[in-house]
Amino acid sequence: MKILGIETSCDETAASVIEAGERGIKVLSNIVSSQVEIHKKYGGVIPEVAARQHILNILPVINKALEEAGLNRNTAPKELKAVAVANGPGLITSLIVGVESAKSLSFAWNLPLIPINHIEGHIYSNFIEHADQIRFPALVLTVSGGHTMLVLMKGHQNYQIIGDTRDDAAGEAFDKAAQILDLGYPGGPEVARRAGEFKKQGSSTDIVFPRPMLKSNDFNFSFSGLKTSLLYKVEKDKDWQSKVSAYSFSFQEAIIDVLTQKAIRAGKEFGIKTLMLSGGVSANSELVDHLRKEVKESLEGVEFFHPERAYTTDNAAMIAAAAYYRARAGKFQNPGDVSVHCNAEL
Ligand code: KG4
Ligand code: ZN
Repeated sequence: MKILGIETSCDETAASVIEAGERGIKVLSNIVSSQVEIHKKYGGVIPEVAARQHILNILPVINKALEEAGLNRNTAPKELKAVAVANGPGLITSLIVGVESAKSLSFAWNLPLIPINHIEGHIYSNFIEHADQIRFPALVLTVSGGHTMLVLMKGHQNYQIIGDTRDDAAGEAFDKAAQILDLGYPGGPEVARRAGEFKKQGSSTDIVFPRPMLKSNDFNFSFSGLKTSLLYKVEKDKDWQSKVSAYSFSFQEAIIDVLTQKAIRAGKEFGIKTLMLSGGVSANSELVDHLRKEVKESLEGVEFFHPERAYTTDNAAMIAAAAYYRARAGKFQNPGDVSVHCNAEL
């Protein structure tokens, strides 16, 4: 079945058409219009500005997604099985644009609507490539700009949050570290690039960061102390500007270490068969490599998956993929019953 997915939770306007069935998921188009260049000036996303951009972008982006999938306004209502949209969590003014557009299309084309939780979308980014290899129970480490979660999945749409962040999300910590180190916005990719440079040089450093909550008896995370620790170190260090790569490396190491060790411990405790990584921070290749190695060494018989680069940060293919599994279970809704939930929980 073909599904049109729409995603406007934050600052990416995205639309995608997938073809999904027993043989897996094929992405026919995956269009993402990023607003990074606009928000860069402000050092973060300004909700009002994001919403205005979504309004300008949404129809051209949907049009392009249909076109690349070989569809148009006339054929889409016949060939599509459903319209899917991320309806939360996220910025309310941003979400509204995607949700109201999806509702209008679903109403005009007489197609069912499938609202998708944004986090569920990130989780299903793994199913785009690995649908036939993922076995339950699975553990998903979801790390994005807004969330850091360990989710136990015993089946499709069956989620148990076993760990969450007490304060900042992992991506947020990367972004704040980048601000402190003057690396611009969004910070994750730049901190990762600097850390990679440092590693490649084979240098060593005595800059060490704490591992917050590593030894706590639960699976929760806390990253705000890490950011404060970076700030104090940099404030005391007159020479910090010449050590940005070393700071990036050690900061990234601390985050990766905590995420990995907690995920492995949870994997052992819950007897999982698959460990998946998802969310924007899964674009971090050092985190991917570290997790893969630890799973191999410490979780016998467990398979590790992570999304392909194009499906790590916000995109609509993941929303359509999650919708396919809801459609299979007959979980459709009427457009009039769907609304935005900016604080939606998984
Ligand atoms: O999933 P996402 O696109 O949006 C949310 O749902 O929040 O995640 C964006 C986050 C940002 O905080 C960004 O800095 C982080 O993902 N990120 C990275 C990398 N690429 C993106 N963090 C670390 N390393 C990266 N390579
Ligand atoms: Zn996201």
